[in-house]
This record gives sequence, C-alpha cells and structure tokens, in this order.
Amino acid sequence: MNVLVIGGAGYIGSITAKCMVDDGHRISVLDNLSSGHKEAIPSNALFYCGDYGDASLLEDVFSERRFDAIMHFGAISLVGESVVNPALYFENNVAKGITLLNAMVKYKVPNFVFSSSAAVYGEPEQQPITESAKLEPTSPYGETKLAFEKALKWYSQAYDLNYCSLRYFNAAGSVDNLGEDHASESHLIPLVLQVALGKRESISIYGNDYATADGTCIRDYIHVKDLAKVHIVSLEQMINGTIRNEIFNLGTNSGFSVLQIIESARRVTGHAIPVQFAPRRAGDPAVLIAANEKCKQMLKWEPALGDIDKIIGDAWSWHQKFPNGYAPS
Ligand SMILES: NC(=O)c1ccc[n+]([C@@H]2O[C@H](COP(=O)([O-])OP(=O)(O)OC[C@H]3O[C@@H](n4cnc5c(N)ncnc54)[C@H](O)[C@@H]3O)[C@@H](O)[C@H]2O)c1
Repeated sequence: MNVLVIGGAGYIGSITAKCMVDDGHRISVLDNLSSGHKEAIPSNALFYCGDYGDASLLEDVFSERRFDAIMHFGAISLVGESVVNPALYFENNVAKGITLLNAMVKYKVPNFVFSSSAAVYGEPEQQPITESAKLEPTSPYGETKLAFEKALKWYSQAYDLNYCSLRYFNAAGSVDNLGEDHASESHLIPLVLQVALGKRESISIYGNDYATADGTCIRDYIHVKDLAKVHIVSLEQMINGTIRNEIFNLGTNSGFSVLQIIESARRVTGHAIPVQFAPRRAGDPAVLIAANEKCKQMLKWEPALGDIDKIIGDAWSWHQKFPNGYAPS
C-alpha cells in the first residue's frame, strides 16, 4: 500500500509508520513537527515538513504521488489546554482537517483512517463503553474529534470515500527506538516514569475518593504496538472491501487504577515512586474502559500485549535508553 501518514513524526503515527514500512508498505509522512520529532520518522519514508491545513502544500503532495490511503494522526491533544483555548483546537483539529479532506476528495484518495479518542464519550455511565454509547464530550478536544468524525460521515456519503475512525483509549509503551516524547506530557505512564528517572520528585494523584476499589480513576491502556497493528488490519480490510465507514473503540476491555499503574511502575523500575494526593480534576470520569467486542467480531483482532508490566516495561526501556527523549543528550 502507498500511504500518507499525517502526524507521522508523533508518538503513535511514527510507530505505525515504522510497522507499515516493516511490512513492506510505501510510506510518506506529512508533519509540521509542532509536537513530533523528525528523528522518529522512518528513514526510508518520504517526509513533507508542513501543515495539513496548508492547501498549496497538499496540492503539491497529492499531485506528486497517488496514495491508496491517508492515516491521520495529526492533532493537538491536551484536554486542559483545549478548555482554555478552544479556538486553537477547532482551528487545528477541525478546520485544518477539513482542508485535508477537501484535498483528498479532489485527488480521489479512496481511504481514510482517523485517530479519534475516547474523549468523544465524555463521562458515560455504562462500562465497558461500546461504540454506540452516547456521544457527549466534556472538553473542546473531545468535541473536535467528534466534529471531525461527523464530517467524515457526511463526506463519505457525498464523495464516496471509505473511512475508519479508531477511538483510542490510552496508548503506552514503545517499539524499538521509538517512544513517547511530548514536551507537555499529560499521560500518566510517562509522568510516573519521569519520577523513576529522577526528573520529578513525586506523582500527583487527582482524587482517591472515586467509586472504584482503591478510590483512584481506572483507565484502559493499550500497547502502542497493538495500536499500530490494528491500523494496518483496518486499512487492509477497508481496501479488500470487508469494512466500510466503521468506527471502533481500541482498548483491552479491562482497566487499571492510577494506584495499580504506580504499583506496576514500582515493580518494573525498582523505584519507590512517591505519590501525593490532590483533589479531583473537573471532568475526570471514574472509569473509562473500552468494549472491544466489535473489533474482535469485525476486524478479527484483539490486543496481544495486554500485560500492564509489559506495557510499562517497554515504556521504561525506552525512557532509560533515551532519558532526554528525541533531544540530543
Ligand atoms: N496518545 C494517546 O493516548 C491518544 C489517545 C486518544 C487519541 N489520541 C490521538 O491520536 C493521535 C496521535 O496521538 P499522539 O499521542 O501520537 O500525538 P503526538 O502529538 O505525538 O502526534 C501528533 C502529530 O501531529 C503533528 N501535527 C499536529 N498538528 C499538525 C498540523 N496542523 N499539521 C501537521 N502536523 C501536525 C504533530 O507535530 C505530531 O507529530 C492524535 O490525533 C491524538 O489526538 C492519542
């Protein structure tokens, strides 16, 4: 397959691009490096450095090459920042995304895989969350993901494009020399590992009075290698006609509390990882677990690397090897 990976210098995009190159696919990456890293792009991928909202760059890219598909990982994704600056989020994740879709339609790229998020559900009452759960985002970030999914639905009907929207829960882990390096880190596992690396003194736990066994929030963690694989599986099935315009939750059908994650990180790193308790944060649901039955049924796929010590162990190996991330040491 000949695939344009938007956001392929970022965490999940670069690892998916690598896995696709390893499987023999031809990959081009378009990324403005706002949160990605040039070093993470596969060396044999063609790299377009620029913005997916830049219509004239897209003209150049699409008139130069024919693609079987676009995988769109590009986004800014800090929930808290999106509440303070929704304009930035709607501009980048929706308005620029529409520029990308319009170029894709013009050049008749037939398939589109979108990185959506559990944030489209907000705070659902039913767990695990199925794809048909109510869509009530509680942040502008979640709203941008939902708005783009809606655009995809209407574009697919009008312009005959086949899309797949993959709603990730929490990605973690690493693959070979590729890992998670965000300048503004908001994800629990890399933050906990920063404590083990000596980069922060302790980890804050926001709320220990939730209605869960140990009082802390529960989330569903999926290994980034599993995420990469399911992108390839979905695209293959789109291209061979098995699926058309589908939405899937990507998770493990199980979850770990914040304290369980810290316990696992203590086992893996041998570090005491001190914690401090802080009040709940607004908009943090007690539990977010993905139902993965639809994935199993339709894609015949389920995560292979569900063991939490393995997920955290792989993240830890990468952070130990690259304590400064992609920055030169
Ligand atoms: N990491 C998670 O656990 C998680 C969970 C749910 C959803 N997602 C979604 O998955 C996708 C990938 O997440 P990630 O953690 O790899 O993020 P990331 O920030 O590491 O990667 C995003 C990439 O997109 C690029 N980008 C952003 N805006 C751009 C623009 N206008 N033009 C060109 N490039 C642009 C960035 O430079 C970066 O390389 C995002 O869409 C995110 O919202 C991630």
